[in-house]
Amino acid sequence: MRLFVLAFFISCSCARGGCEPKIVNIGAVLSQKRFEQVFKDAVAQANNIYGKEKFKMNAISVTHKPNAIQMALSVCEDLISNQVYAILVSHPPQSNDHLTPTPVSYTAGFYRIPVVGLTTRMSIYSDKSIHLSFLRTVPPYSHQAQVWFDMMREFQWNHIILIVSDDHEGRAAQKRLETLLEERETKNKNRNYENLDQQSYDYKRGPKAEKVLLFSQDTNLTALLKEAKELEARVFVLSASEDEAAELYKAARVLNMTGSGYVWLVGEREMSGKALNEAPDGLLGLQLINGKNESAHIYDAVAIVAQSIQELFEKENITEPPRGCVGNTNIWKTGPLFKR
Ligand SMILES: *[C@@H]1O[C@H](CO)[C@@H](O)[C@H](O)[C@H]1NC(C)=O
Ligand SMILES: *[C@@H]1O[C@H](CO)[C@@H](O)[C@H](O)[C@H]1NC(C)=O
Ligand SMILES: *[C@@H]1O[C@H](CO)[C@@H](O)[C@H](O)[C@H]1NC(C)=O
Ligand SMILES: *[C@@H]1O[C@H](CO)[C@@H](O)[C@H](O)[C@H]1NC(C)=O
Repeated sequence: MRLFVLAFFISCSCARGGCEPKIVNIGAVLSQKRFEQVFKDAVAQANNIYGKEKFKMNAISVTHKPNAIQMALSVCEDLISNQVYAILVSHPPQSNDHLTPTPVSYTAGFYRIPVVGLTTRMSIYSDKSIHLSFLRTVPPYSHQAQVWFDMMREFQWNHIILIVSDDHEGRAAQKRLETLLEERETKNKNRNYENLDQQSYDYKRGPKAEKVLLFSQDTNLTALLKEAKELEARVFVLSASEDEAAELYKAARVLNMTGSGYVWLVGEREMSGKALNEAPDGLLGLQLINGKNESAHIYDAVAIVAQSIQELFEKENITEPPRGCVGNTNIWKTGPLFKR
């Protein structure tokens, strides 16, 4: 009888392709030690829902290393050597601003191992020519332009002055907002304006940027703001780092450009930390709800990875990820498919 039951179990589990579920290693680079347990719990939870008898995920995690070279080595030695199928990477804690997910993205991206960014908001990580296999659970800061655009339309602020830092983040925000404004312009062009007076003509045309002011570290912000004050528009849309925003608010206050009659419309960085200390009353800013909740993003990322692995194993022929970096220069053939 016992023998029969045993035989029955074996035939049962073997019938579904492979007697043992395949072990699939998932890597993570997390901001603090305590999130390693969260990651393990998230993987255990996903194992109960996905894969079942086909695959079982195994969590392997490290925390951010003090510099980029050590980080890249750790990705090779601790994660890729274990043939991880994907790597989660959080944004390092705020106090370590020189640390970024970049070494993780470059190292894993070289092999096309998907990297899922948690809580990383910088727009550069959406550049697919640099960060080849980077995915993200939060939108980049530049997507805030959509909300600025909606608010400009809602309040009929038809002329704005865009003040942006002359770096990747600033240009990404400028490009996105200008694209939205141009789309709106094109849509309206086909209408007939002949019978409209000037005021409703302006209204129908919708918002536009009167001027774009770029600044860098060497810019005299007082001179920049004086130039802005000369213009007609009184709505300022600002994209800047915390430090830059703080300096700008200080200069604007001295020039009496923060009181009644002026609108400052900003994003999340421009009203956090140091910037918030200097922010004028009435500043309008944005905040991504739950954007900084690393635990929540670990759970989301693990779930999306598990669902993709399930699809992959069901529908595709897959090759094994590389084992370690030493002597390995080939990309992981299944990597791009998995990412897609
Ligand atoms: C910045 O510009 C203002 C106004 O144009 C000028 O008064 C001030 O001296 C300048 N500051 C520096 C450091 O150049
Ligand atoms: C700002 O306003 C104050 C009080 O109204 C005034 O004394 C000062 O001269 C103004 N500064 C500038 C730069 O306009
Ligand atoms: C973060 O997300 C987790 C999981 O969704 C939730 O339990 C927790 O309350 C959230 N924390 C904050 C501070 O919102
Ligand atoms: C997987 O490989 C087998 C054998 O090489 C082939 O017959 C099959 O069509 C492949 N399936 C997919 C989805 O590529």
